[in-house]
Amino acid sequence: MNPRHERPVALVTGAGKRVGAVIARTLHAAGYDLALHYRRSATEAERLATSLERQRSGSTYTVQAELADLDALPDVVQRVLARYGRLDALVNNASAFYPTPLGTATPTQWNELFASNAQAPFFLAQAAVPALREARGAIVNLVDIYAERPLAQHPLYCMAKAALAAMTRSLALDLGPDVRVNGVAPGAVMWPSDGKPYDDQQAMLARTPLQRAGSPEDVAGAVLWLLRDAPFVTGQIIRVDGGRTLSV
Ligand SMILES: NC(=O)c1ccc[n+]([C@@H]2O[C@H](COP(=O)([O-])OP(=O)(O)OC[C@H]3O[C@@H](n4cnc5c(N)ncnc54)[C@H](OP(=O)(O)O)[C@@H]3O)[C@@H](O)[C@H]2O)c1
Repeated sequence: MNPRHERPVALVTGAGKRVGAVIARTLHAAGYDLALHYRRSATEAERLATSLERQRSGSTYTVQAELADLDALPDVVQRVLARYGRLDALVNNASAFYPTPLGTATPTQWNELFASNAQAPFFLAQAAVPALREARGAIVNLVDIYAERPLAQHPLYCMAKAALAAMTRSLALDLGPDVRVNGVAPGAVMWPSDGKPYDDQQAMLARTPLQRAGSPEDVAGAVLWLLRDAPFVTGQIIRVDGGRTLSV
């Protein structure tokens, strides 16, 4: 392990683009140095790292891994510790998301959706716990409002996010007082790149009290608050959904 790094260190999974990249930028601006995990988005992750390095030299490290590969997960944490000698925050952001209508769902889809949304967050957390305990650090899991109120035609995704919500509460119970574990449950903040499954985007927003889609910055702000500014909060899942789940 390297000598202990001077600044707090956060590992963000799926950090190459979209919400993960905004979380990474937000934490970096708040003084965290980063381990940016990516799977296929090497170009985006390296570009992000270069841009953050320009702001603060020695503040980023990129780590590639397929999170469905269980054997790779302890290694991800070990590589981060070898680079920085400490880990203060784990942000489980990486996620697969697609429909699995009943009658068509396959075991392969089950494995893929549970791997990124539940299994990897658990085993990454397990590998990170000794370092997180030492740092009196925190975990934030990116859940989804659909863990509570399912999205039609997406049972496996909703079940996997529900497992992640249960994991958030379970680990909060088991890891106190050293490590806090919380979640953020976004509503619509970034439409999937193929536009699906939201062909009724305007109707959905009209049902949302704040009358707009959220932004990745809204989610990243909640992640930062849970990591840095909420020392008496654990086991909570904060909805960042513009109030969408207030009414049926
Ligand atoms: N976007 C929204 O409006 C919204 C709403 C509710 C909840 N959320 C949650 O917020 C988080 C971020 O959302 P997002 O839309 O930005 O996510 P996303 O773009 O769908 O996925 C984020 C990253 O996850 C990585 N990933 C997926 N499967 C992986 C695997 N098996 N191994 C390793 N990496 C894997 C991919 O990395 P590579 O590109 O490097 O392969 C991908 O870029 C997710 O947890 C999502 O469920 C988002």
